[in-house]
Amino acid sequence: MKKLVLLATVLLAFSCKKESQESFGNQTPVATEEKELTPEELGKVIFEGKGNCISCHQIDSKTIGPSLVEIAKIYKEKNGNMVTFLKGESDPIVDPEQFVLMQANLALTKNFTDKELQGLEAYINSNLK
Ligand code: HEC
Repeated sequence: MKKLVLLATVLLAFSCKKESQESFGNQTPVATEEKELTPEELGKVIFEGKGNCISCHQIDSKTIGPSLVEIAKIYKEKNGNMVTFLKGESDPIVDPEQFVLMQANLALTKNFTDKELQGLEAYINSNLK
């Protein structure tokens, strides 16, 4: 009987250990402030933050503006350049009839740095799986 209890204890300890190791493995590392963001991460921050693009663009459904998946798809197909579009230097290729709604934002994005615009482009493209 004692042996059985011992065995049960050992098994229990073993299974607990395994579980805690597993959940540790799933933990995402906490981002430190000094950590340099990838272009895609920077783009996401701007998209949801100071760019406020998220108010008109959802990832995969059309709202006021086309979805990010659609934008990424069309830019890929037509080999477009989002950076020059956001600088106001190239014409809309996704939904030109609705361009007036997007146009006002170019006043904002024109003042973004190349790094920020490349980030936005990388983030939008990252939604095309
Ligand atoms: C007021 C709503 C609104 C906001 C805010 C907005 N957009 Fe748009 N956007 C639109 C609409 C509508 C279109 C479709 C018209 C078009 O294709 O130009 C569009 C189109 C686009 C396109 C495709 C342009 C093309 O070639 O046709 C890109 C890229 C884009 N938006 C990026 C952004 C980014 C980046 C931001 C944030 C800085 C942003 N949008 C903020 C409404 C918005």
